[in-house]
Amino acid sequence: SMVTGEQVEETYIMIKPDGVQRGLVGEIISRFEKKGFKLTGLKLFQCPQELAEVHYEELKSKSFFPKLIGYITSGPVVCMAWEGVGVVASARKLIGSTNPLDAAPGTIRGDFAVQTGRNVVHGSDSPENGKREIGLWFKEGEVIQWTPAIAPWLK
Ligand code: TYD
Ligand code: MG
Repeated sequence: SMVTGEQVEETYIMIKPDGVQRGLVGEIISRFEKKGFKLTGLKLFQCPQELAEVHYEELKSKSFFPKLIGYITSGPVVCMAWEGVGVVASARKLIGSTNPLDAAPGTIRGDFAVQTGRNVVHGSDSPENGKREIGLWFKEGEVIQWTPAIAPWLK
């Protein structure tokens, strides 16, 4: 759903091959960190064709599907799990519209992309899909629940 969550949720965020090739990894991770979400999973990964097809299975009938699979498997991606209150919808706002020409300046796609087929980053569209996608892309033990230390310099 598009309801802004007030629950602690998890979302799957992925820097697509163009984002890695263009040196945008640090910039993109930084936006989620600065917003205040918690990173719980992170890896560089070469996606096999079968996983790309399962991840995007609801788009299988679309004419752009073969190109999409070719793009996602064209080079390494950065897989991330992020946790936080309302993180699913908030991450979609930080990412911006699917077509980067419609994405507002200040969003990742609005700032760094031009083509829908090279839109730099993925974000889950619902809490259910967040869980599903984290389960698809990460193995047992790769997602870590952790509690931020209480910063002594703030006491
Ligand atoms: P979609 O889930 O609709 O967008 P989003 O990534 O914003 O959730 O589509 C998945 C990806 O498929 C999208 O990021 C880029 C690609 N795509 C195309 O290449 N052409 C299209 O017309 C659409 C709708 C998507
Ligand atoms: Mg989508």
